[in-house]
Amino acid sequence: MNLNRQIEEWLQSRIAAFQYDSRPFITLAYAQSWDGSITTRSGETLNFSCKESTQLTHQLRSLNDGILVGIGTVLCDDPQLTVREWTGPNPQPIVLDSQLRTPPNAKICNHPDKQCWILTVDSDSNYTVDNSEILTVQGNDKNYEDVPLEIAMKLLREKGIRSLMVEGGATVITAFIQARMVDAIILTVAPKLVGGYKAINDLQGAGSNEQLNIEPINFAQAGEDLVVWGELQYGG
Ligand SMILES: NC(=O)c1ccc[n+]([C@@H]2O[C@H](COP(=O)([O-])OP(=O)(O)OC[C@H]3O[C@@H](n4cnc5c(N)ncnc54)[C@H](OP(=O)(O)O)[C@@H]3O)[C@@H](O)[C@H]2O)c1
Repeated sequence: MNLNRQIEEWLQSRIAAFQYDSRPFITLAYAQSWDGSITTRSGETLNFSCKESTQLTHQLRSLNDGILVGIGTVLCDDPQLTVREWTGPNPQPIVLDSQLRTPPNAKICNHPDKQCWILTVDSDSNYTVDNSEILTVQGNDKNYEDVPLEIAMKLLREKGIRSLMVEGGATVITAFIQARMVDAIILTVAPKLVGGYKAINDLQGAGSNEQLNIEPINFAQAGEDLVVWGELQYGG
């Protein structure tokens, strides 16, 4: 079975088996170098995926109801988050943006068939962006500045998002893992050493030596890149 079919069957079976109504099935899918860098420095764009792994990324987008990135990625890469290198539907574009910094001319706000959902804690009624829906999420802790993920994911589920692909960047990837809300990881590893901005930062709380396991492990080659994927196990 080829890689695209193998991953499609695997992901669809995992999504179908996910029974919780409190949030979508969440997959982290991003590209990194051999040393774990997703770019040179935060705020700089580095595209190191080959043709085959880019196609796989677009296929993964088409297999998910929603696709989410942080405002850092929107400001830096201005991604479209659409399916162009594969045949399939576009996922719902979603951005985590507590301070409503999404520029009106961002490509995700000029989407061919969807309104962009901007998840925020800011209720500034003067901020409007054409072709976008602002979803204000209030946490229990009013001093907490980021979008509270648990409440935000529940809202997405209520709005019909059963599967969510989180594409980055590092702050968002780390926050989802810290919140123990990642079900699967699909990682593209490009044969490069960058020594740059790492995908995952601090997972060690005070006094903790926690390691999260990914199992069972699957791997295959896509062009010159290695693709590894599996489910995240949180133990207790
Ligand atoms: N290789 C890849 O696959 C890949 C993919 C994507 C991005 N990237 C790279 O990653 C870099 C951007 O990463 P980044 O770490 O700077 O930014 P990011 O993760 O894209 O966005 C982080 C921002 O999201 C907002 N946010 C709101 N609620 C949050 C929450 N609960 N948890 C975490 N963040 C929340 C925060 O800004 P506010 O406080 O303003 O809301 C936060 O600073 C770029 O250089 C981009 O090129 C690489």
